[in-house]
Amino acid sequence: MVTLHTIEQIRQAVQNARRQGRTIGFVPTMGALHEGHGSLIKAAQRQCGCVVVSIFVNPTQFGPAEDFSRYPRTLETDAAYCQKLGVDIIFAPCAEEMYPHEQLAWVQIEKLTAGLCGAARPGHFRGVATVCAKLFNCVQPDIAYFGQKDAQQAAVICRMVHDLNMPLKICVCPIIREPDGLAMSSRNRYLSADERRRALCLYHALQTCREQIVAGQRQVNRLTEAMHQIVERNQGRVDYISIIDPQTLEPLIHIERKALVALAVYIGQTRLIDNLLLDLNDLENPI
Ligand code: PAJ
Repeated sequence: MVTLHTIEQIRQAVQNARRQGRTIGFVPTMGALHEGHGSLIKAAQRQCGCVVVSIFVNPTQFGPAEDFSRYPRTLETDAAYCQKLGVDIIFAPCAEEMYPHEQLAWVQIEKLTAGLCGAARPGHFRGVATVCAKLFNCVQPDIAYFGQKDAQQAAVICRMVHDLNMPLKICVCPIIREPDGLAMSSRNRYLSADERRRALCLYHALQTCREQIVAGQRQVNRLTEAMHQIVERNQGRVDYISIIDPQTLEPLIHIERKALVALAVYIGQTRLIDNLLLDLNDLENPI
């Protein structure tokens, strides 16, 4: 495994791998790696001969009052984790490497970014889409891997690649959870012991929603009402609880077939997100 810091180095390394006939799998991350990231790396390894993991805490996707400065930066342990998994290349640029001058070119995905996390975090998806476009141009992967954990991000990236004819495939992988159901997240480390217990309300709300759908409930307002109650009972502050079309992210009133149940909740100061992708034709799979 090599850790590279410059765009020139990563371009050269990927070109060498490609000359050897290896396909390039790419897992973009902000580090503080956990098994959620690990699952993307393993998926990439199953399909590609050379796996690149980027570790870059991207300043342009954080709002001024957000956690950019205290976001965990753990390059050494992240590198050891990647090494253990058998990653080929880590790309860990500094901010000056990715943004040497004032950035004037931005990638803006309309409509999909207006609601959900986009409403609470203006500019967030512009930063995400732009840095992913830049990273794709640096790494030039055949396939890039994203987690369903960030469902709106995955939808935005899929749409960007489609609408801008970017020459790669996007693979969206399932959410990895702690044994008790909490979705793994780099931000879980912000939680105190009491908050960690209360954070389970996101998963419980999703489970309850699923149970009610299995029992025949199809009315979105009824389903979200029950979810609000569960979150509020655990002193969570709801940012949003939404049931939407998984592709367009438009709100549903009545569940017909496919639905994305998504929520963002503050537990103390920490904003957590989770979601559940449902297909009424396939309800026997648990979350
Ligand atoms: P980060 O939060 O580090 O996540 C990197 C990737 O890991 C994302 O695709 C995310 O959806 C996935 N992931 C995180 N937790 C997961 C879990 N519990 N199960 C499955 N996948 C999980 O998302 C970002 O970084 C950034 O926005 C980035 C795309 C790197 C752009 O800066």
